Amino acid sequence: MKRSPLPRLDTADQSIRARLLSCCRLKPGEIWPDPEGKHLVGCGDAADSGFTSQLCTIDGFKPPILAVHDPPYNLVMEKKSSVGAFVDWCRTWIGSSFELMAADASLYIWMGADQNDHFQPLGQFMGMMAETGFDSRSFVTMRNQRGYGTQKNWMAVRQELLSYTKGNPSFKVQYTDIPRLLAGYYKNVAGERKENGERSKSETIRPGNVWVDIQQVFYRMEENVSGCYAQKPLKAIERIIESSSGSGDGVIDFFSHSGTTLLACERLGRRCLTMDLDPIFAEITIRRLENYRKNRKLGWQASNPFQEELGVVDSAVVTVVAADA
Ligand SMILES: C[S@@+](CC[C@H](N)C(=O)[O-])C[C@H]1O[C@@H](n2cnc3c(N)ncnc32)[C@H](O)[C@@H]1O
Repeated sequence: MKRSPLPRLDTADQSIRARLLSCCRLKPGEIWPDPEGKHLVGCGDAADSGFTSQLCTIDGFKPPILAVHDPPYNLVMEKKSSVGAFVDWCRTWIGSSFELMAADASLYIWMGADQNDHFQPLGQFMGMMAETGFDSRSFVTMRNQRGYGTQKNWMAVRQELLSYTKGNPSFKVQYTDIPRLLAGYYKNVAGERKENGERSKSETIRPGNVWVDIQQVFYRMEENVSGCYAQKPLKAIERIIESSSGSGDGVIDFFSHSGTTLLACERLGRRCLTMDLDPIFAEITIRRLENYRKNRKLGWQASNPFQEELGVVDSAVVTVVAADA
């Protein structure tokens, strides 16, 4: 496959966007029904409760059991908004998620923190969540290995994962591939002193709340979708889905972008209801599923989802960017 990455699509030249828009199946307000009857992909605004409700109830399936939302951080469609306006905007789709999800459900949200501006909007977002019906459950940090400014400061990019529950959903313990090396952690079991190695059911350790075993997506990885500037690693999303949903359950993601949640649901036998405001990302989401079904590929690495229509993209306008919201 030819090396032909797309530029970052939210800030791309309008002529590239216009070419890509002409290849998109969905217009704002439309929903793509998966021909295999499993998933739905919409093009719409997460803050439009009429549209999110339509997406989640259109074919009368059971209410979703899990939400994995990854909103743009303090950027509401490219217009820098105040942190207050951002949090008000988040309140709308968090409220819809609560209404639409099952009585016992889990909610995960990826949220950034700007180190140059008092770590906003993370704190304000957490404060807003305290006023909702969700209960806080965990605060996970995904380790970043790549990023800017590490000569003068610690890593700039943050990937925080907030976990909440509604009611009393189940949780399945997950394991990493990291071998359990440490001995010497003892506990008394029925009057006998047991070393942790004797008690554990697994040869590898659990992820805990700092996930160090997941590689950020970059252009050399098969799962890379060029043009998508904020793609989450499939491994992270699969871990969430496996821990907090079961076979056939519905999973919502109102910010699909490269379609990682959809792909994870397809691989794990869940039903995904997802959407994006931008028709180009909604199209990429559909194409990622189709590419996986046809070629068993997770992404396009250094090529791109529109290569058949576009041919090799003019490299003069292309820069490969780090995954960063
Ligand atoms: C951080 S990315 C999501 C990344 C995704 N988890 C992945 O792995 O590819 C956020 C996405 O939200 C979309 N978006 C921005 N505003 C939106 C809105 N009001 N409603 C729905 N989607 C929106 C953007 O177009 C962008 O594709």
